[in-house]
Amino acid sequence: MIYPLILTLHLFAALIFIGTVFFEVLFLGSIRQQLPARVMVWVEQGIARRARSLMPWVLLVLFGAGLGMVWLRYLAVLASPLTSAFGTLLALKIVLAVSVLLHFLAAMWLFKRGRMSARYQHLIHASVFGHLVVIVLLAKGMFYLTW
Ligand code: HEM
Repeated sequence: MIYPLILTLHLFAALIFIGTVFFEVLFLGSIRQQLPARVMVWVEQGIARRARSLMPWVLLVLFGAGLGMVWLRYLAVLASPLTSAFGTLLALKIVLAVSVLLHFLAAMWLFKRGRMSARYQHLIHASVFGHLVVIVLLAKGMFYLTW
């Protein structure tokens, strides 16, 4: 009974995280062109403040639940990931997830040091967006692809 609960937590956390990144990349970019720069600075500061307080918790649940599922069901599969399509894709998904976490930590570090620029922000968003598209494809593909 615990596994479905952890999986649901993982899904909800993934939903919030992916939704936020997709909103920033797909909506904010075009909204920026329609609003005065001064207003946009306020909007982006508000979003950044909210993201900085909420996202650490979302990531904690996302990664905690992910690790919990591996611990309960997939330790043996990950012990030799190359022997099954599922293991390979899951391992790849986890590597990409760790890379997303490193992007997030780098962004927090840049904000804290006051060194986050519009260019860095754009690069980090685009890279995380790409990672998430692949992670979702892997998360579903690992249940359907075989070789
Ligand atoms: C950016 C981080 C991550 C995202 C966006 C993400 C997203 C997802 C999604 C969308 C699913 C599909 C769930 C379903 O359709 O039922 C999934 C499944 C899964 N994820 Fe993640 N995940 C992330 C990180 C991790 C990490 C770090 C781990 C393990 C250390 C992990 C382990 C798993 C496992 C084992 C499943 C399969 C669950 C099952 O159905 O048995 N995930 N993930």
